[in-house]
Amino acid sequence: MSTKLELGVFLPIGNNGFLVSKTAPQYAPSFEMNRQIAIMAENFGFDLIFSMSKWRGFGGTTHFWDTTLESVTLMTALAAVTSRIRLIATMQPVLFAPAVAAKMAATIDDISGGRFGINIVTGSFLDEFDQMGILPPDYAAQRYRYAEEWLKVVKRLWTEDSVTFDGEWFHLNDCRSSPRPVRQPHPFIVCAGTSDEGLRFTAREGDYCFLGGVTVEHTKQLSRRMKDVAAEFGRPIKTATTILPVMADTMAEAERRWKLLQDGVDREAIANIAGYYVRKGRQSGLNRIAKMEKDISFAGRITIGTPEDIANYIAELTLEGGLDCIQLLFADYIEGLEVFHAAVMPLLRQRGVI
Ligand SMILES: Cc1cc2nc3c(=O)[nH]c(=O)nc-3n(C[C@H](O)[C@H](O)[C@H](O)COP(=O)(O)O)c2cc1C
Repeated sequence: MSTKLELGVFLPIGNNGFLVSKTAPQYAPSFEMNRQIAIMAENFGFDLIFSMSKWRGFGGTTHFWDTTLESVTLMTALAAVTSRIRLIATMQPVLFAPAVAAKMAATIDDISGGRFGINIVTGSFLDEFDQMGILPPDYAAQRYRYAEEWLKVVKRLWTEDSVTFDGEWFHLNDCRSSPRPVRQPHPFIVCAGTSDEGLRFTAREGDYCFLGGVTVEHTKQLSRRMKDVAAEFGRPIKTATTILPVMADTMAEAERRWKLLQDGVDREAIANIAGYYVRKGRQSGLNRIAKMEKDISFAGRITIGTPEDIANYIAELTLEGGLDCIQLLFADYIEGLEVFHAAVMPLLRQRGVI
């Protein structure tokens, strides 16, 4: 779609970022750390920062994600301390009444001057809502239909003076929401579902689709498929994927660093994550677990090598695979962003990728 690759950062808003490892940097998430990362990313020419929404962790030795910041409030603060970079917060429809979500988004869009987007998530782990006692009946089977109705109402609130709506879950009577978002017709929509229903929802509603993929070839295929399906709905869509570069001056040193992280795998936390998927029989999650046991990461394809290897990898995904956006996460975000900026971005620029 776009001629130039967009670069994003998947912010570490849960403790220890995304690595389920005792030998990865151990830290609690903080506004200060995320502020520093957001400002670095903006200064380095990145296009977006993204934060997830997570309400219950997985314990284990590292207490993985037992501590997480809330996505929308964090992005609101980051909107105020940045000026160019786009911001994606995650909203789970089941947590926000449509009229509340519409006004929150319009407020952040005002603060950010139209830089705001929403990642819509229906729930990778429904335990986190069960603990709150808020799930509507049969939500697990209906979650994408629920999200579709929610988004329909939110979009109407963003674009119409008064909304009266009588749906399956939402009932509004002359409901008003002003101001309108700065970005017209509304903030951009991001989705990352991997089930068939999730992919269809994304094709119909998303401006961006965040894809996984077991191999590079697989990610390229998913990207093509997503664009084809979106085209059937008459819509363009940008495809994105997340990678975790483990970089050093030589491949041997990068592999040594990676092995050190892998040796620290927190098996207990991974077993807790796997336990959820087994209990619920979620195929999309079980696929992810097989990958996690090897990759020790909750998100992002592990990419090991020199800056040149990383640049080659990104170039292949984008120039050959047609991906529009690469989102990065790092074991150590500050060091990783500095190296990426100094050593990988010039190579991407030389090749016309960015
Ligand atoms: C970049 C990215 C961000 C995601 N953010 C969240 C999140 O904040 N909260 C969440 O519960 N799931 C998140 N997910 C998981 C997906 O939304 C989705 O639930 C998962 O891929 C399973 O697909 P399904 O919901 O279609 O079964 C994210 C996935 C990706 C790739």
